[in-house]
Amino acid sequence: MFSYRKLLGTLFILVIWAATASAQKKTINQRVDSLLRLMTLEEKVGQLNQYSGKEVTGPVSERKTNQLNDIKNGLVGSMLNVKGAKDTREIQAVAMQSRLKIPLLFSLDVIHGYKTIFPIPLAEAASWDMDAIGQSAHIAAKEAAAVGQHWTFAPMVDVGRDPRWGRVMEGAGEDTYLGSMIAKARVKGFQGEKLGGTDAVMACAKHFAAYGAALAGRDYNAVDMSDNMLWETYLPPFKAAADAGVATFMNSFNTLNGIPATGNTYLQRDILKGKWGYKGFVVSDWGSIGEMVSWGYASNNTDAALKAITAGSDMDMESHAYITSLVQLVKNKKVDIKLIDDAVRRILYKKFELGLFEDPYRFSSETREKLVLNDPQHKLIARDVAQKSMVLLKNENHLLPLSKTIKTIALIGPLVKSKRDLEGSWIPQSDTTLVTSLYEGLKNKVNDSVNLICAEGTDVMGKLGGNFDDAVATARKADIVVMALGEAWDMSGESKSRADIRLPGRQEALFNAISATGKPVVVVLMAGRPMIFNQIAEKAQAILYAWWPGAEGGNAIANVLFGDYNPSGKLPATFPRAVGQIPLSYASYTTGRPIKSPKDIKYKSAYIDVPNTPQYAFGHGLSYTTFAYTDLKLGKKAVKRNEMVGVSFKLTNTGKYAGEEVVQLYLQDPVASLARPVKELKDFQKVSLNPGESKIIKFQITYDKLCFYNRKLQWVAEPGRFKIMIGSASDDIKLNAEFELQ
Ligand code: NOJ
Repeated sequence: MFSYRKLLGTLFILVIWAATASAQKKTINQRVDSLLRLMTLEEKVGQLNQYSGKEVTGPVSERKTNQLNDIKNGLVGSMLNVKGAKDTREIQAVAMQSRLKIPLLFSLDVIHGYKTIFPIPLAEAASWDMDAIGQSAHIAAKEAAAVGQHWTFAPMVDVGRDPRWGRVMEGAGEDTYLGSMIAKARVKGFQGEKLGGTDAVMACAKHFAAYGAALAGRDYNAVDMSDNMLWETYLPPFKAAADAGVATFMNSFNTLNGIPATGNTYLQRDILKGKWGYKGFVVSDWGSIGEMVSWGYASNNTDAALKAITAGSDMDMESHAYITSLVQLVKNKKVDIKLIDDAVRRILYKKFELGLFEDPYRFSSETREKLVLNDPQHKLIARDVAQKSMVLLKNENHLLPLSKTIKTIALIGPLVKSKRDLEGSWIPQSDTTLVTSLYEGLKNKVNDSVNLICAEGTDVMGKLGGNFDDAVATARKADIVVMALGEAWDMSGESKSRADIRLPGRQEALFNAISATGKPVVVVLMAGRPMIFNQIAEKAQAILYAWWPGAEGGNAIANVLFGDYNPSGKLPATFPRAVGQIPLSYASYTTGRPIKSPKDIKYKSAYIDVPNTPQYAFGHGLSYTTFAYTDLKLGKKAVKRNEMVGVSFKLTNTGKYAGEEVVQLYLQDPVASLARPVKELKDFQKVSLNPGESKIIKFQITYDKLCFYNRKLQWVAEPGRFKIMIGSASDDIKLNAEFELQ
């Protein structure tokens, strides 16, 4: 029997079903728009406001706040520096009491691990191993995500050509191409395949832009550079991060040609959000909006807020400028509401993408926190990455690897038993007792079969006097000496620039005293930057640059010293001989007066007191085995614009150990409308070979690799000759060829 009731019932169910289906189908953009329509101006501005938790990572604002009240009132969009599943959960619960219940974003500097501390980023860059770098970032993200973090302020993709600048430790070194590859690997590692997984966090490409070129290597300083330099050298790693889908950008403390990056419309609106079409959001650096007042670029905090929002800074980290000024600036018609809406939209989009509106607590899980932070695999991977990061700078007469049958090894230096220094700066929640010192690493390796005797000799800074006599006596008792020297954990990093980057304190003097005993000396250097250590470079038989290798550093060093891992790292940055050479990069210019030999300096571009060459060049790094480069073949000697040049050669492991070689391809455009660098890295491969084994290595030189920014800032390749250089380091070119672009 036909029944109206039944029909109405069915219709009602259909309508409900259709409504639910449409809600499910609603795109994030539609959801953002609906939410935006419900928001007051105050709530919108609140989304652009970021406060720090108790453990600050910058100067504390003078403005007194009641953070929890502000959160409850919908006046905070994000919190940085709140740690742990419990705390993030509790604070998120306060946000859930706000009128619109918009979840907070929790963010933190997870730079090289959360609890499991990996080597510092500069060290990892020395691995030239994108899988290892990506894996390290992913584990850091997994641990951070388990304790409620949604967002890390990493990777730092600033090209760093000044080792005085403390922050070189946080980047990928001096090279644009290597830096771009690493930027991509780190973004993918942090973010996983797709944002929203609880084993991944949002990444942040920082510091946009050119922070690495801070004058004289002094942190927070001004930057002055040509547009060509900006576009060619400093911007590409940011572009690579954007292309890899990085969720956020952070702007920067420095000025760029007079305009603070934070208030820089050219950088943020024209390039990033304009030309590159970037859809994520930009957070300011800590207090950098307010600092435009100190720069003399804004008259007060309100003016700074106006300039920052106009220039495209979406979120204010700890300047308290947006929260105190933007509402009034909109009401006074100084700031168009469209700018606010755009910034809010970008931030809300990420919150939806992370699934926080479905479950604001989905990242804060005390169960996952316990499980993930104690995953024993993480330690093993940290060790693997650490050994891949170490660079064997020198190895005279094959002193390394050490034999396990040595009777006595003297371990000398301030870092022999140190744990904290191996971690370096930026360690969110590490447990230093879990770090393996160099002494412990060697002990784990040799048990009691080798006698390990230790002496500190001096402290890192040479302030406590020290006892060279005891160290020398200890050295005399041993068959071989391993010295552990370097920088303390707080000597590189943010606000840790050094004007003198020699090995600090009396450590080189200690080395000289030990070296004078005539015992063979292996020096292990641990540091957060390229240092200067000329006497060691000259006299030590072997030098291993271990950087700040992280929690598994001691075990990793032991593996390398005893040959259980054959070193494969290559320097991602030039090591100068003297501070006066800085900035020193392999990608230098011939000049109009190039020198032909070290003595050829009269009326030449040279120093009278120091050679032009570095102590160790970009790309340098030895192995326990040797590699031969032969049989270079070029597909074509002349190509047209849309053709590629195929290059191949044979790489043979000619030594006794299995090993990995990073083969590096450099190009030079010898005559162009702008003087070009003597060489530029354009490709590389990390190749693994057994003793006696050969492989044919192939590269494709595409048109893009021949391009540069011309006077009109057009990305072009100019017809003419190009030089190809393939080698094992920027100063160790094994194969040369030329071709012509027609
Ligand atoms: C200032 C640093 O420059 C930046 O890199 C960091 O992410 C923030 N402080 C937050 O700690």
